[in-house]
Amino acid sequence: MNIQRIADKVFGAIVTDVRLAALSDDEFAAIHRAFLDYGFLVFPGQYLSDEENIVFGKRFGELEFGALPMANQEKIRDGSYGEIIPMKSQRMRTNVGNEAWHTDSTYWPVSSKCAMLSAVTVPDEGGETELADMRAGYAALDQATRDRIEHLAAYHSTQFSQANDVGDFPPQVEGTIYHGEAYLRPLVKTHPETGVKNLFVGRHAFGVPGLERSESRELLKSLVEFVVSDPSRVYTHRWQEGDTMIWDNRALLHRARPYDYSKARVLTGTRVAGDPASELACHPTDPEAEAGRQALAAELEQLRCETEDRMFGGTSARG
Ligand SMILES: [Fe+2]
Repeated sequence: MNIQRIADKVFGAIVTDVRLAALSDDEFAAIHRAFLDYGFLVFPGQYLSDEENIVFGKRFGELEFGALPMANQEKIRDGSYGEIIPMKSQRMRTNVGNEAWHTDSTYWPVSSKCAMLSAVTVPDEGGETELADMRAGYAALDQATRDRIEHLAAYHSTQFSQANDVGDFPPQVEGTIYHGEAYLRPLVKTHPETGVKNLFVGRHAFGVPGLERSESRELLKSLVEFVVSDPSRVYTHRWQEGDTMIWDNRALLHRARPYDYSKARVLTGTRVAGDPASELACHPTDPEAEAGRQALAAELEQLRCETEDRMFGGTSARG
């Protein structure tokens, strides 16, 4: 197995001469160490089946979900893919929303440990996945900013991010990702496995308690912009069919890039759950959850008036 760091970047490595579908325990131990050090790993030419994606994902921990099509087409029972899903659908609204920097599942009580994508069908142009290193971002902050944010936290909700980024207000339904809860997470995270500090921000974050709304928005925006302002902290992955990529959701931001949405783009997604010891914000039944609910409701009311000019014009999806 060969682990090659990515030139001119502070993070990431390409791993070759290994078959993820037939991995020894020693090989996995080396991959896991590299994953923690580099933050993300690319494995070209793996062509993993759904089952192989799931087996490899489970090496990292319990799955939130395994081998789901992250696609603009439905997967049919026989394994083929159906018609291209229209832009007015909730699926495409969410996909387009995820073209803004984020980290996965911060809008659940327990946020994600890592995410894995495997390329099945990719468009000729666009549709890349970009990653950004919040460890290097934190390390590069000036001391005054570090001191300012040390004890700050933000609420996380994908109802907030869909509204704020693309003017999308999906119906609030318990049990879906649009559940009406918002979870408070610190802006500075100490990584549970490496002990390294990183920023923990992204599109789902809003409403820093103790700050005015405008001040909170400005701070959260500026921290994301700071992380991605240095090209050595940002990596663009141009997918080749057969690639598998895994990244640490606790320390990296990611986003999808636009493409011609009438062309097929199918990636197989597997998401590993975080360890509740480090990734649990609170349960909806905890008394402090009420503050998040109220902060989200107030924020959405504001955004209803402010987002008519955004992509989906302050509407909800139908169809
Ligand atoms: Fe994502």
